[in-house]
Amino acid sequence: MTGSVSAVDKSETRVRQMFGEISGRYDLMNHVLSGGTDYYWRWWTIRTVAPSGASPILDVCTGTGDLALAYWKRAKGAVSVVGTDFTPEMLRLAENKRDTRFGKQIASGAAPLTFIEADTQSLPLESDHFQIVSVAFGLRNVTDTMKGLNEMVRVCQPGGRVAVLEFSMPTNPLFGWIYKNYFRYVLPRIGQLFARNKQSAYEYLPQSVSQFPYGEALANLMRDAGLENVKYTPLTFGIATLYVGTKPTHVRTKTPVGN
Ligand SMILES: C[S@@+](CC[C@H](N)C(=O)[O-])C[C@H]1O[C@@H](n2cnc3c(N)ncnc32)[C@H](O)[C@@H]1O
Repeated sequence: MTGSVSAVDKSETRVRQMFGEISGRYDLMNHVLSGGTDYYWRWWTIRTVAPSGASPILDVCTGTGDLALAYWKRAKGAVSVVGTDFTPEMLRLAENKRDTRFGKQIASGAAPLTFIEADTQSLPLESDHFQIVSVAFGLRNVTDTMKGLNEMVRVCQPGGRVAVLEFSMPTNPLFGWIYKNYFRYVLPRIGQLFARNKQSAYEYLPQSVSQFPYGEALANLMRDAGLENVKYTPLTFGIATLYVGTKPTHVRTKTPVGN
């Protein structure tokens, strides 16, 4: 997308406040504005980067927890899943969904599904621990992308996978034009109507997407963070892209002091 000249404000305070304000309507907005495609994108992610073995899974910037919940369900409650986010309002909604959907199974001995308040740039989690570290539509919002990616790689097991699901720009020119105009003119208006958010959350969305790397540029950032065999698949005409990389088996990371 062109036309955005000033850099979008992605300070932690602004991002946390914005998601706190729209949290109550976040899920509805997500499904309406994506026409339900978000379900498919998550399904594709858990199918492509499927759990195997008993090691835990981490979903960062988990928001209302949909990807964490999908992973827990996919692993049939046999693998622990942790979801982290720094907006407490989003996490409370994630916990409610967990309790409603899987509370009984967890109470009767299934693996835990835990939500922890944490900044992706400094995760209070041990290194080399998770078989999969995922993020859906979250990395774009993290103030320092490389710090976030480095932390995701740090906590991933050697040989484990890091999955990034993120918006991208369609490659087809006609579809790109439609998408650009939908994003710029339609989405902010519908979004504002629903979300009634003072900080223009749905103006933030197209701005943050237009200024975030995608395709080879984001794959290169993942390589810079130490991942190998990084591959990506555009989904739904390239509106979203799933990026997957593997942490090399020989790499072990020290847990930073204080984490
Ligand atoms: C667009 S939502 C995505 C939520 C969820 N993953 C999904 O797919 O619906 C982005 C989430 O990232 C979180 N977030 C942004 N920056 C963060 C950071 N530095 N640390 C932790 N969470 C962050 C926000 O609080 C918000 O819940």
